[in-house]
Amino acid sequence: MLSWDEFDKPEEGTAAKPAAAQATAELSIEKLDSVGDAAAHEARAVAADDSDAVARAKAALNELDVQEGLEDLEGAAARVRVDEKRMINCRADLNQLVPFKYDWAWQKYLDGCANHWMPQEVNMNADIALWKSKDGLTEDERRIVKRNLGFFSTADSLVANNLVLAVYRLITNPECRQYILRQAFEEAIHTHAYQYCIESLGMDEGEIFNMYHEIPSVAKKASWGLKYTRSISDPNFNTGTVETDKEFLRNLIAYYCVLEGIFFYCGFTQILSMGRRNKMTGTAEQFQYILRDESMHLNFGIDVINQIKIENPHLWDAAMKDEATQMILQGTQLEIEYARDTMPRGVLGMNAAMMEDYLKFIANRRLTQIGLKEEYPGTTNPFPWMSEIMDLKKEKNFFETRVIEYQTGGALSWD
Ligand SMILES: [Fe+2]
Ligand SMILES: [Fe+2]
Repeated sequence: MLSWDEFDKPEEGTAAKPAAAQATAELSIEKLDSVGDAAAHEARAVAADDSDAVARAKAALNELDVQEGLEDLEGAAARVRVDEKRMINCRADLNQLVPFKYDWAWQKYLDGCANHWMPQEVNMNADIALWKSKDGLTEDERRIVKRNLGFFSTADSLVANNLVLAVYRLITNPECRQYILRQAFEEAIHTHAYQYCIESLGMDEGEIFNMYHEIPSVAKKASWGLKYTRSISDPNFNTGTVETDKEFLRNLIAYYCVLEGIFFYCGFTQILSMGRRNKMTGTAEQFQYILRDESMHLNFGIDVINQIKIENPHLWDAAMKDEATQMILQGTQLEIEYARDTMPRGVLGMNAAMMEDYLKFIANRRLTQIGLKEEYPGTTNPFPWMSEIMDLKKEKNFFETRVIEYQTGGALSWD
């Protein structure tokens, strides 16, 4: 067993003499550095039995200019102070996680990790039997399952790509980046979950994964989102001017408020409603875990958007507020059209008109969450049970149905 208490003890047979120990304690950091340098230099000396490859590796390190490498890091010259940290266009070192400025971002990272799950933990046997039985589901119910797996299987990839290829680089805060890395992995788990459902149910993979090209109500949502990632995922795009900062803000509103905050909600409601009726319970359980992750992504995005507004009030002018409102209303309209396409008739105790009310209720929330006024006043929630599922206060009970306890260390083997 390794113990750090042993670390300072001299190795056997090399017990330091008291006078030498005293001298070591008096060494300044500079002296220790030069001792370290000398030791490294000695270790790099080419030995007689070194191969040519080893000798070249040692020689290359002798050429390494440490200072030059560190100068490439943004703002890495000094220790970071909290008041220097900023959500965008920050010049402080982005590799120093602490001190935290945005404790909420770190807390969300911890909460995300605490809720880790994997698709294979969910038992899909009942779904497979139901899906394959001739009269297990109605045609309308089958349509809902297929459309939603079609939409979500590619939508989470769009979100993940936008995060990794665009958002991560432009958010200049390490605690937020830590959460974004966690979110990116969760998006991979979501895509995995859809693939797992599609494979378990023996669906035509080509048909499902190509719906975002081939089914208009799915394609319109994907194309609307892609429009907002096109310019900022260009590696030459940078924030720093009013116009580019606004462009980035538009992307965050499109992805967090609309894609993750509106486009997922018709599908989530339909699949969870199926589960509540004891149909496709494995698929519904997967969607339940995904919805819980997504509501955290959404809350993180709202906090980021509002923090950018606080730090850059000039960006949030009348034109930007109008644009943000328009984006949320367009997203709501596309989701209403998706609801009509996926529910041509009443099914599972709901219909397109009820879903329209629900989506307007959700749109009001998205608008007010970023400080805009409601556009559908007086709309009420026809599916209050959805709020119960999303309510983070119920977090503790949420995973009680899990059959496998997740073990990080237990699954590892060092062989
Ligand atoms: Fe996701
Ligand atoms: Fe997400």
